[in-house]
Amino acid sequence: MITLHTIAELRSQVKAARIAGKTIGFVPTMGNLHAGHISLITRAREECDFVVSSVFVNPLQFNDKSDLQRYPRTLPEDQAQLDAAGCDLLFAPDVDEMYPNGQDEQSIVHVPVVSEGLCGGSRPGHFDGVSTVVTKLFNQVLPDKAFFGEKDFQQVAVIRKMVDDLCMPVEVVTVPTARAEDGLALSSRNGYLTAEERALAPGLFQTLREIAAELEAGSGPDSVLENATERLNQRGFRTDYLEVRSAESLAEAASGDRRLVILGAAFLGNARLIDNLVVTLNRGIV
Ligand code: PAF
Repeated sequence: MITLHTIAELRSQVKAARIAGKTIGFVPTMGNLHAGHISLITRAREECDFVVSSVFVNPLQFNDKSDLQRYPRTLPEDQAQLDAAGCDLLFAPDVDEMYPNGQDEQSIVHVPVVSEGLCGGSRPGHFDGVSTVVTKLFNQVLPDKAFFGEKDFQQVAVIRKMVDDLCMPVEVVTVPTARAEDGLALSSRNGYLTAEERALAPGLFQTLREIAAELEAGSGPDSVLENATERLNQRGFRTDYLEVRSAESLAEAASGDRRLVILGAAFLGNARLIDNLVVTLNRGIV
């Protein structure tokens, strides 16, 4: 695997691969890689001839500057994992390479509606930062396919809409959430948990499964979510949101909807964890 730090070098290597007739797969990341990221590389390896990944902690998507500062940067370990997983090229630009005119003068890609509410509500500007950097990375790499984890359900919805609305010639492929044995979704932010918090952390996914079971049993979403919020708080979390949405459009779930996504975000100590569960009910919700 080669590691490159400039857009010019990246473009020239990808161009050579394309001239050699190879299809290009792309896995954008912010580094501090875990098995979830590696499952994206594995999938890209299966589906594409030349696999590019990026490690870039994107300042534009952090509304909280202290969150940006403490975000783990582990490039040597990331390089070793990507190499072992069969990645061909790692692009690891610095902030000046990505934002040469400064972040304040950067043109912004805003994806309406799906980027509002949920994490977009709690983290203002977050999805503008994501859609802007992903647009830049797509224009730099020009991939045939790009791979994203389903754990970031709203992020995937934002990127799919952006690709569709702006006619970007890239196929978005999603990969199921990687979980620890106790159900906790793998995340770079799990590293912020103390041992005690780590033991409580599967409570978020457990709460999502309980919500699914109660909806399946015919209870209405409002009371189910209210009780679930109380339970999640009793489990040691500070609930940010728990919501039930249409899995297709991410719109508020309407009565009769069967294919739903239950989304949750909650603080546990210094970590903000997110997770989701897609369910197809036998009967529509009431
Ligand atoms: O999911 C992430 O790690 C980031 O939001 C992404 C897609 C790499 C953009 O910075």
